[in-house]
Amino acid sequence: MHPQINLKTVVLGTGGTIAGLAADPSNPSNYKASQLGLTDILQQAGIQTAGLEMQDVARIDSKDMGPAVWRPLLQAISQAQERSDVQAVIITHGTDTIEETAFLLEVMGPWPKPVVLTCAMQPADSPTADGPGNLRDALLLAQHPAFKGVAVVCAGKAHHPQHLQKIRTDQDDAFSSGLSQPLAQMHKGQWLLREPADQLPRNGRTPDLQTLLNTADWPRVEWVSNHASADGEMVMSLLAGSSKAKRPLRGLVVAATGSGTISVGMENALIQARAVGIEVWVSSRCVWGQARFYDDKPYGVATSLNPAKAMVALSLSLLAGTR
Ligand code: SIN
Repeated sequence: MHPQINLKTVVLGTGGTIAGLAADPSNPSNYKASQLGLTDILQQAGIQTAGLEMQDVARIDSKDMGPAVWRPLLQAISQAQERSDVQAVIITHGTDTIEETAFLLEVMGPWPKPVVLTCAMQPADSPTADGPGNLRDALLLAQHPAFKGVAVVCAGKAHHPQHLQKIRTDQDDAFSSGLSQPLAQMHKGQWLLREPADQLPRNGRTPDLQTLLNTADWPRVEWVSNHASADGEMVMSLLAGSSKAKRPLRGLVVAATGSGTISVGMENALIQARAVGIEVWVSSRCVWGQARFYDDKPYGVATSLNPAKAMVALSLSLLAGTR
């Protein structure tokens, strides 16, 4: 079926499996991400391109995602949002770090027009490719008169960036909204929208868009974890290397055990990190958990964001000037 696109939509490509090709299409699990540009992806998906404006912002495997692509992506989104002839923005992205990108775009909103990200778990030339369906669903959601904001579309569900988590590596339905419901669900070819779930409280501040666009090197934040045998040596190594590193360490996100617990050795190392000006946020490594402190801790502040999103939020906060 060729869906009719009625509204002018800007489609921004960044790569990922949705743009991937298998060396041998009969064995689609052995593939290379980011081989196709948007024109080929849409053509393979059988989507008419009239009314669509395509721009390949990048062509990367999203494991390599970061400010070098986020900046031109944000620039392209903001230019599209300002145009009176554009109704919505669609972004194609790899599944591996779509959580971070969607979260960043959500935080930098609200955008006046819908921003819908989509992806695929199978390469474009797989006989059972999921990218074409996801793209069509994303275009439909972007045109839905009641949809606002930022969402990630995959496998017939639309997830809010705050709740989205990649939870599977070998099924098309790779994402969950955790304890919340997806924002919308496909039913008989139509999107059924739900009331958005409560937003999670967010630590820190957000810089303005122009500051982000003008800054090539966003503050360096590293992710460390608490686990059996964690003794804080990882943190001490990061501190020791920071003065010689190309980019000095500015922040740490700890994927803590349970609701924010940290070994005694790790606590001591984090206290030393804070003493030299490193901002420390404590997240939970539990997929559906949140770090929560009932009193002040000397080693950091708790965040309800998962570690991947906390990394983005802390870097933005440092860029906005909070310490
Ligand atoms: C990527 O994240 O770019 C590769 C994996 C995927 O898209 O599923």
